[in-house]
Amino acid sequence: MASNNIRSPLSYHFLMINLLILLFISLLHTALATTSSSQTDNANYIEIACNSTTYPQECYKSLLPYTSKIKANPQKLCRTSLSITLKAAKNASSTVSNILKQKGLTRLEAAIMKDCIVNIKDSLAELMQSLDAMDHLSGLDKEFQIDNIKTWLSAALTDENTCMDGFEGEVISTIVKQKIRNIVLKIARLTSNSLSLINSFTYY
Ligand SMILES: *[C@@H]1O[C@H](CO)[C@@H](O)[C@H](O)[C@H]1NC(C)=O
Ligand SMILES: *[C@@H]1O[C@H](CO)[C@@H](O)[C@H](O)[C@H]1NC(C)=O
Repeated sequence: MASNNIRSPLSYHFLMINLLILLFISLLHTALATTSSSQTDNANYIEIACNSTTYPQECYKSLLPYTSKIKANPQKLCRTSLSITLKAAKNASSTVSNILKQKGLTRLEAAIMKDCIVNIKDSLAELMQSLDAMDHLSGLDKEFQIDNIKTWLSAALTDENTCMDGFEGEVISTIVKQKIRNIVLKIARLTSNSLSLINSFTYY
């Protein structure tokens, strides 16, 4: 009896600690399950949205790292896509400028590349305008701004294609042509995907 009286508070504590641990584990489990299921939902949202773009695989691959930021929000989806495209265009602009500095380019190659850089810079400006408008969508102006973004993105796409067309039918080094083409093709695909996402944006 006496020993029971002594053990009792101890078992009580032991029981409470066990309960707390169990409670903690179950809370943790729920939190993890919620996080992972909403992450799956968010990734699924991106996949569905990307499936309606021109280059679904590129779209999904580029946006997937931003799943938790986009959170199935159409405006954030479009914004992120534009921001990725802008970053790639900046990179393309400096990469092509660096190739232009290489020795051994013919005069024709240099001239075509200079034109291409002008095209890329134009598309950069249009992408920046689009991103800026996307960040300031509001009120009655919203539809008008979205229409502007569509116009700027179409213009950016035209500029990117103009750069690539510049190399067609010219006698220039295949390596240079291929290099530039790969770089500009990448931003043209990202631009096209951003335009597709924004075209669906109004219907969300
Ligand atoms: C997206 O398209 C791919 C290929 O057509 C398909 O396998 C996949 O199930 C689609 N995903 C969604 C979420 O609709
Ligand atoms: C920038 O472009 C180069 C050449 O195409 C590529 O190797 C690199 O991964 C790009 N960087 C980013 C951040 O896109």
